[in-house]
Amino acid sequence: MTPLVPEARVRRSARPVTRRPAFVAALCAAALAVTGLTAAAPPEREVARAAAALPYQDPALPVPQRVEDLLGRMTLDDKLGQMTQIEKDALVPRSDLATYRIGSVLSGGDSTVSPNNAQTWADTYDSLQRTALSTPLGIPMIYGIDAVHGHNAVRGATLFPHNIGLGATRDPALVRRIGRAVAEEVAGTGIDWSFAPCLCVARNDRWGRTYESFGETPELPTAMTSFITGLQGDALGGDPASVLATAKHYLGDGGTTGGVDQGDTRLSEAELRAIHLPPFREAVERGVGSVMLSYSSWNGVRSHAHKYLVTDVLKGELGFTGFVVSDWAAVDQLDGQTGFTGAEIATAVNAGVDMVMVPHDYRKFLSLLRGEVGAGRIPLARVDDANRRILTKKFRLGLFERPLTDRSYTSTVGSAAHRTLARQAVRASQVLLKNEGGVLPLPKTGRLFVAGKSADDIGNQSGGWTVGWQGRSGPVTEGTTVLQGIRAAVADPSRVTYDRYGNGIDGGYTAAVAVVGETPYAEMRGDRPGDMGLDQEDLQTLARLEASGVPVVVVLVSGRPLDIADRLPDWKALLAAWLPGTEGGGVADVLFGDHAPTGKLPMTWMRGASQQPVNDGDGKSPLFPYGHGLTYGTEPGPDPDPEPSPAKACTATHRTVTSWPGGHQAEVTVKNTGTGPLTGWTIDWDLGGAAVTSLWNGTHSVANGRITVRNTSTNGTLAAGATTTFGYTANGGPGTPAPRCTPA
Ligand code: GLC
Repeated sequence: MTPLVPEARVRRSARPVTRRPAFVAALCAAALAVTGLTAAAPPEREVARAAAALPYQDPALPVPQRVEDLLGRMTLDDKLGQMTQIEKDALVPRSDLATYRIGSVLSGGDSTVSPNNAQTWADTYDSLQRTALSTPLGIPMIYGIDAVHGHNAVRGATLFPHNIGLGATRDPALVRRIGRAVAEEVAGTGIDWSFAPCLCVARNDRWGRTYESFGETPELPTAMTSFITGLQGDALGGDPASVLATAKHYLGDGGTTGGVDQGDTRLSEAELRAIHLPPFREAVERGVGSVMLSYSSWNGVRSHAHKYLVTDVLKGELGFTGFVVSDWAAVDQLDGQTGFTGAEIATAVNAGVDMVMVPHDYRKFLSLLRGEVGAGRIPLARVDDANRRILTKKFRLGLFERPLTDRSYTSTVGSAAHRTLARQAVRASQVLLKNEGGVLPLPKTGRLFVAGKSADDIGNQSGGWTVGWQGRSGPVTEGTTVLQGIRAAVADPSRVTYDRYGNGIDGGYTAAVAVVGETPYAEMRGDRPGDMGLDQEDLQTLARLEASGVPVVVVLVSGRPLDIADRLPDWKALLAAWLPGTEGGGVADVLFGDHAPTGKLPMTWMRGASQQPVNDGDGKSPLFPYGHGLTYGTEPGPDPDPEPSPAKACTATHRTVTSWPGGHQAEVTVKNTGTGPLTGWTIDWDLGGAAVTSLWNGTHSVANGRITVRNTSTNGTLAAGATTTFGYTANGGPGTPAPRCTPA
């Protein structure tokens, strides 16, 4: 199993926020409001002169004290408004933001500004914030957006590889740096909160959101929670670019039957906890500020209605102190009818939802919410708890001290430094799956033919959530296509011929590079319940290239593994590029060997669509296993004659994946070192005082300080040389376990 690059963990500390004193904007507004005048934010120059009049406006006071002071001054309408999140474009007139005391605004996937650039986004944010500050208490609104692979709503922003590619890097430290870069670009437009990272554990590649997952086992999403620290910083609000992160979608969104988006995850509680909970446990450990619930259900009960999962497990057992936000109009789904009702609102809020992403009819929502509270169906204590959670994050984020855009970050949007980082991430995410005869790396002096619908298409290489919810093919934003990267890399660009369909190729080329795969999609529109192969255009293009007799190198631009086993023999090389984003030059860096491929599969690669779901350790025989990835110069040569080994033998290798004060997560790889198949195995080792808290892909028991782990019903059969892995979390230090393997 490929080791993850260790990421230095810094314990977060709750440092008081110190920001430009803009809370006095509220003070002046409050004074004006008393006079009945419409509060307009005072000119900046006047902001610095006033002193903090009320405790909640004093950044020198502890946040809990500021929260309690403010809560004590709030009317019920103030409190209910804080629990309300609306789409920017639904706010008509904009003054309703103040009139209804609305505490949060978002831009959904297709919400934009015109012209679509960083400056306009920042101006729009500031205008909305000034309206929010004009209320008597001047509570700043918090603005959220799906910056899921860069600040992807903004044309010209740096777009990084989607999570499936970042999982292939096995580099949490790199992902943390990406989180920081995204935070700077988001902060440069004023926005305070990103609905990222998705910590989904995608178990069925048919799911339209597979590309939003870092990997199919809990270990990769758990490790890549480093993105949270990148977004928020070591301490939320510790610096002006700190952006609130969101662990989503809680719980089990990637485990639905058939990979149906928003479907039903049918698992025992032990399996749900073992597979889908570890990333959220780690996110809470890292101080994630918000958690978004999943549309999906667990054994038929919607997550948005699941008090046990949300209140008892997330807030109670895991100790989550941030706030829970619903997904877009997810409350509407609870009764199976369109629209939302007071009963649905009460169910969700009483389950533990603190902020409802309505996102449109805020007047109806507030009226119904007020009715539920008035009737006692939502306790006022629940309302106050939700407000404490939300206000605590607003204070810690520094919104009261600096509610407006810090324009010093606006120039980071699409900056050269961020694009360089993105190109590094693209390189590290490339997974080389086949390289027959060492056809890669390509010679820079060769005569190359490039084809494929995604060779020169920045929209395809960026995928969904790109300047629009679904993304789209074509020049959707600024960046470098794979073809542009290839032409920039070679000695003489005139020796690179491009035809999307492969027309004009002949036998005189050194190699043909076909960049093919999927066109953009998001969420349920990406579900693939049927065929998972290449489309007709790609197949026809490939046929033209193969007919020429020229070695064919396939670069697959897709949001998931595709069903290509029957085509593979006709290809000399296969490189999984995933959805690289704006810096297609990173693909060329690997194709020409400027950087050798180091990526490892974050998802098991099916032998055929009928294998779905297919995952590490399930006993199936995939085309390429989880963790597979070749590099240059080490193509497997002829196997050395193996020493004769006993028919049945196995080994167990322990590896600590991540640790934190008081606990750690580890995995154990079981290998069949015999000459015959294994039908089962048992691993045991001395725990050294540690106490296992969760374990997946195995069944365990503990006695006298030793743990014994047996295979599950799906990972006991191992062919000679095959491996499987189980993972666990434990209290206490990892120590130096020496696991012993006994074949069944
Ligand atoms: C979407 C997604 C969620 C996103 C939200 C706001 O439906 O499920 O991931 O954050 O709505 O755009």
